[in-house]
Amino acid sequence: MHLEYRLVAATADQCDTPCAVVGVYEHGVLSPAAAAIDAASGGALQRLVASGDLSGRVGSHLWLYNLAGIKAPRVLLVGLGKQEHFGAADYDLAVRHAAGALAAAPIHAATSWLTELPVANRDAAWRVRSAVIGNDHAIYRFKLSGRKDGADAKPAAQLAELSLVGEAGLADAVAQGRGIAKGIAFARELGNNPPNICTPAWLAEQARQLAAEHAGVAVEVLEPEQLRALGANALLAVGEGSVNTPRLIVLRWNGGGEAKPYALVGKGVTFDSGGINIKPGPGMEEMKFDMCGAASVLGAFRAVVELQLPINLVTIVPAAENMPGGKSYRPSDVLTTLAGITVEVLNTDAEGRLILCDALAYAKRYEPQAIVDTATLTGACVIALGKHAHGLFSADDALAAELLAAGEQSLDRAWRLPLWPAYQAQLDSANADIANIGGKSAGAITAACFLSRFTDGMRWAHLDIAGTAWNEGRKGQATGRPVGLLVEWLIGKAGTRAA
Ligand code: BES
Ligand code: MN
Ligand code: ZN
Repeated sequence: MHLEYRLVAATADQCDTPCAVVGVYEHGVLSPAAAAIDAASGGALQRLVASGDLSGRVGSHLWLYNLAGIKAPRVLLVGLGKQEHFGAADYDLAVRHAAGALAAAPIHAATSWLTELPVANRDAAWRVRSAVIGNDHAIYRFKLSGRKDGADAKPAAQLAELSLVGEAGLADAVAQGRGIAKGIAFARELGNNPPNICTPAWLAEQARQLAAEHAGVAVEVLEPEQLRALGANALLAVGEGSVNTPRLIVLRWNGGGEAKPYALVGKGVTFDSGGINIKPGPGMEEMKFDMCGAASVLGAFRAVVELQLPINLVTIVPAAENMPGGKSYRPSDVLTTLAGITVEVLNTDAEGRLILCDALAYAKRYEPQAIVDTATLTGACVIALGKHAHGLFSADDALAAELLAAGEQSLDRAWRLPLWPAYQAQLDSANADIANIGGKSAGAITAACFLSRFTDGMRWAHLDIAGTAWNEGRKGQATGRPVGLLVEWLIGKAGTRAA
């Protein structure tokens, strides 16, 4: 599932590798490595530019075989776009595009010179780290045991080893990339598993395994009886209609001595049928991804442990399945949440905020320095921001700025939406302290407003990842977002960015 990476010093035309990967800008501007290949091959690349076969556009590539004068039997030319505009996002696109081409090729190893390309506002460590993350992303395949490799299945990559051109001193950046990539792959794997496997109990089991495999990790799983004794009635209510009973999963990483922890909370609805307010049929299968918030905080936790970050971290996952049934909670039920706030259920499909409010209340006991939740919370957020940006909500400007910056740096971007007190009135209820829905307008904001009622006195931010956590459609898979953003933020907290 992960590639082996090596840092090498090599010349593109003389390197003994199954495949040399080099970049080409638009208008025939060759990167230094491409220029070396062009020179050694007697101008082969410039001829392709002149004939119009080599555009250099981002997202394009061209394979060349057995070029005279070049030691590598294959050259992969990767489009970089216009040199004067070449930035971090173009670099990342080019890396991921090349990685996809390599993953589909019949080769076990390759050497890439893309890591040499200068990128505005980014250093060599970032380039190497991004290359590791992008290539691991490309070779990831979800495959349930028992599946035959039929015509539909994307075959596993033969690629096992990638050499990146860069100084030996960049080894820390490779290690950091690997740690983050492991966290992303873990999140994707959890998200892609079907809901008849990925139940609340199964998620808890994954957390237990993670703890068993890593020193310094403590795990605690609250079962339904314990949740009842605690008074986590909102989490229990959401799970009431399912035989797959709820869990509250708590993982703790102690890498920061006596310091107060950071806290991550992730929505773990293992299947969201809508409950009694049942969802329409088309697309309902995508609601297996409704635990991607949980997957992302577990993935981020895993990366923090892999990187042995010198911080304390507590990750809390409320997990439940939202199903219709004779025991299901219903519209007009009034729940007394763990925080003591009463909630009138006006729609059983607004269940994410209900399981999260108990988890946020539970998080308070750890007195976190800051708390971030991630949730596939609202269709409204998908309408507002689409698939590129997470919705970010926080009353704390400094925390919001930190998370926006972490998203920019990792290219796992968020966009801030308002959380002004004026929106809170939409949650007014005649029968309880608040209602669980806020009406037709500003659905992503009123969902965040609901959560804000349970975070008094905490530095808290909410990421609505409904549009970003998976790719829609029949072949859509979990993206692993926002593991990149979360880990970038925590690396900043630890002050251990690879230099
Ligand atoms: N899990 C859904 C949100 C969702 C919908 C994510 C589509 C991604 C794609 C959530 O639990 C939900 O059903 N939200 C409702 C809220 C409404 C009832 C106020 C929604 O967005 O329609
Ligand atoms: Mn729902
Ligand atoms: Zn949901």
